[in-house]
Amino acid sequence: MFVNDVDLKAMLSLAVAAAREAGELIRDAPITTLKTAFKSSPTDIVTEMDHASEKLIIQRILDARPDDGIVGEEGASRNSKSGINWLIDPIDGTVNYSRGLPNYSISIAVEIDGETAIGAVFDPSLDEIFTATRGCGSILNGKRITCASTPFSKAIIGTGFSYLASRRAWQAEVLQPLLPAVGDIRRPGSAAISLCWVACGRLDAFYEAGLQPWDFAAGALIAAEAGVVIQDCKGQHPERDFIIASAPTITADLSKLLLER
Ligand code: IPD
Ligand code: CA
Repeated sequence: MFVNDVDLKAMLSLAVAAAREAGELIRDAPITTLKTAFKSSPTDIVTEMDHASEKLIIQRILDARPDDGIVGEEGASRNSKSGINWLIDPIDGTVNYSRGLPNYSISIAVEIDGETAIGAVFDPSLDEIFTATRGCGSILNGKRITCASTPFSKAIIGTGFSYLASRRAWQAEVLQPLLPAVGDIRRPGSAAISLCWVACGRLDAFYEAGLQPWDFAAGALIAAEAGVVIQDCKGQHPERDFIIASAPTITADLSKLLLER
């Protein structure tokens, strides 16, 4: 498939190959001796493998597509000469990764003229690769996926919390009315994987405030292409800049609880 003469199939293959290679690199690293540093707070960490993963992915992209732009979570930034930009989270779920927990991912999205055209999320622990190309559906390890249709009272809702204590206090308040209204809550620890889990029906919805484009761009396309409703509520209220991804059957109930309080 081509958009503005861009071969999306070739670009998706590049994204998948880079995500897999980076995923294998980080999965095989000895985590007990990892060098770490702090970012926005003492709980917001970055490891040497975040940097190694970002470096490898960028090298693979620029070898193949030297005119494309890059935005990477760990600081990579390159202006685009082609109108195409790559958004990279080299490890989404760094806290899980650094503690030896599963559920971390490599997330790569491609934007063409400002719109996400391709998304790839690789979960090295489960060897699962989720992909989507705009308009062509979503795929998990070669098989088409669609979202669930669970009733709201039984729905399993994923969320995530900020690294900033002030914001977490408010996030706890948002969660309170949700808990008795739904089946249960999960805090998986990788926004990108959580969105993919909504795409394949493992979760019925996922919401989080304060996410960055590299956290959600690929996962949001994968979810949308699987029939999930994506609401980007950024800018409506300073503390409610939610991304809400929900199966259509529960969108109205969930939005009401999250946005109309
Ligand atoms: C984080 C994860 C986490 C979410 C945080 C993100 P990082 O990304 O996606 O699940 O709750 O808001 O920042 O820091 O591991 O790349
Ligand atoms: Ca990250």
